[in-house]
Amino acid sequence: MGRRRSAAIPDALSGFYVYNFVVPAGNRPVESSLLEADNPISVAVVGVGVFGRNHARVYQELEQQGEPVRLVGVVDPNLERADAVAREFGCRAFGSVAQMLTTHSEVRAASVAAPTVHHLEMARALMEEGVDVLIEKPLAVSLAEADELIQLAAAHKRIAQAGHLERFNPAVRATIPLLTQPMFFEVHRLSVFTPRSLDVDVVLDLMIHDLDIVLSFANSPVKEVRAVGLPILSGKVDIANVRLEFESGCVANFTASRVSTERVRKLRFFQPHQYVSVDYGRQEVLVFTVGADGSMPGAGAPTINPQIKVAKPPVTSEEPLHAELRSFLHAVRDRSAPVVPLEDGRRALALALDIVAAIREHGKKVGLAGIAKGKS
Ligand SMILES: NC(=O)c1ccc[n+]([C@@H]2O[C@H](COP(=O)([O-])OP(=O)(O)OC[C@H]3O[C@@H](n4cnc5c(N)ncnc54)[C@H](O)[C@@H]3O)[C@@H](O)[C@H]2O)c1
Repeated sequence: MGRRRSAAIPDALSGFYVYNFVVPAGNRPVESSLLEADNPISVAVVGVGVFGRNHARVYQELEQQGEPVRLVGVVDPNLERADAVAREFGCRAFGSVAQMLTTHSEVRAASVAAPTVHHLEMARALMEEGVDVLIEKPLAVSLAEADELIQLAAAHKRIAQAGHLERFNPAVRATIPLLTQPMFFEVHRLSVFTPRSLDVDVVLDLMIHDLDIVLSFANSPVKEVRAVGLPILSGKVDIANVRLEFESGCVANFTASRVSTERVRKLRFFQPHQYVSVDYGRQEVLVFTVGADGSMPGAGAPTINPQIKVAKPPVTSEEPLHAELRSFLHAVRDRSAPVVPLEDGRRALALALDIVAAIREHGKKVGLAGIAKGKS
């Protein structure tokens, strides 16, 4: 494999000493030879704060459940944190992607869960070395960065997935077969304040989950964006309300807050003769149906007291991150298109940035201090 062994170096803070193999550029092994059916895929997590730690945990759990995957290492410039997570999940700790790949050229795939401002830099370092990536949402802080990520994935023939976790929520999956002609969405995503992800507005932090889901459910281009937002505890927009109108005539209202006193994650929509309520958190779906004539489905004459049929489709509960990482690993192994390609991450980001611009515009119009300027 053209690797040369050099001096032993300390492995971040983990106390282990590892040998430094120098890997000539462009000489990483081809995936086909390494990704045979039962060969575990060697993976890493880049950025192991609150959410990256979850990625490390889930990779380890998948391995314990018999998935052919092996968590090799975690990368974080905060070496104390990297070391703590590495000890917790039985892998190695590194201070940088370069340090990890110099000593562990077998890493084939990685989750990027660093703050959004670092996604491009980290994913580039990985993809240029032939590593497939799952990049947390929001994909990047700008469309130029998102485009560069898409180009890098194409140039280096990498499997690259955007981390839109809710696509893998079993309640969302159970809702897809119910979609007919959704015309009105009402979405709430409220969180209690934590000093995380404050590098971006709440629209890119929280609302983007629902933008991605509604874009895929509504299946129509956005015609109009109206938005209002306010900074409350951070210097960025912490609470936002948005109204979207689609070319199809569908309308969607979104409220996202990271300064709430309660945690709510609900998406409700109306379509002809039906109201569907999805609780992402409880992983529950409720469907209320009346017949086309206002009566029970399939029944006779219209009535002023229509009977409503309530159904609760079966949902097999699963941690969405498990389903997401399993799906990513399958795409890596099969060299198949990921369920959420980077283009979908870009699409949600483009809409989120339009919303942020609309919030600034509105702030300017009504003279809200601290809103009108600044980037997302
Ligand atoms: N899919 C979801 O539901 C979900 C939920 C939470 C966060 N996220 C996303 O995950 C990412 C991380 O969020 P978080 O809440 O874990 O943040 P966090 O602040 O808790 O952790 C970020 C970690 O990244 C590390 N870091 C900083 N610069 C780095 C670099 N250059 N390389 C590697 N690591 C670096 C930090 O030291 C820290 O440990 C963000 O993009 C966020 O939007 C997604």
